[in-house]
Amino acid sequence: MQDKKVNHIAIIMDGNGRWASNQNQERTYGHKYGVQAVKEAIKGSIENEVRYLTLYAFSTENWKRPQEEVDFLMNLLVEAINQELEELHANNVKVHTIGKIEALSPLSQQHIALAKEKTKENTKLNLILALNYGSRDELVEAAKKFAQDCEMGMMKSSDLDESKLERYLYTAEFPDPDILIRTSNEKRISNFLLWQISYTELIFIEKLWPEFTKSDIKEAILEFQMRHRRFGGIKSI
Ligand code: IPE
Ligand code: IPE
Ligand code: MG
Repeated sequence: MQDKKVNHIAIIMDGNGRWASNQNQERTYGHKYGVQAVKEAIKGSIENEVRYLTLYAFSTENWKRPQEEVDFLMNLLVEAINQELEELHANNVKVHTIGKIEALSPLSQQHIALAKEKTKENTKLNLILALNYGSRDELVEAAKKFAQDCEMGMMKSSDLDESKLERYLYTAEFPDPDILIRTSNEKRISNFLLWQISYTELIFIEKLWPEFTKSDIKEAILEFQMRHRRFGGIKSI
């Protein structure tokens, strides 16, 4: 087996609601326990020298949920940042976000800005939180920004190629994920990183998100290392 390096893991953290209802609890109980699993994913990434961890925390479609649940998730975000920021910083983690965070509450935005500012010099792990993120929204925004640059005479349509388009995405500064994990045994992408996962290895696991531990990161890496990646060619990497 080749020891292929995993640089970037993206995770669709799914199944909080089902985990809670399996124990006759409210869905929000599952979200609360989901924070423990986030800590496990961070720990597992650091231990395995993964440089980028992207976590799908709230999609552009999640606004469809009952207002109470949306409010709970937003408060949880603020609380989790407050509680974990010191430890993230001590572990040399740099916080980033992708998605339209300007639509979040002013308080959420304030805490996100604080976390980014405090951790901006950190170098061990890039933790990328997808908040109010939707891949189609990202592509529409990219198209708009490119059109604006054209209108201002800074770009011409003939300038556009794949790497230029990437510069307009929220993920411009990050490499594509090597691995995408989705928990809860759902086998769909739910509008996550559609452009970026063109050649990502997909791993679907049965565990519900609150059950995720750092060893699931290790297992995903081992699974990745067994895969034969050809990128359209015939030689396996
Ligand atoms: C994932 O768990 C958390 C978010 C989408 C915010 P869910 O809340 O989707 O849990 P299930 O899928 O309903 O069990
Ligand atoms: C995807 O999970 C979004 C996040 C994990 C934030 P959902 O639970 O919203 O996805 P669907 O509705 O099952 O596709
Ligand atoms: Mg779900």
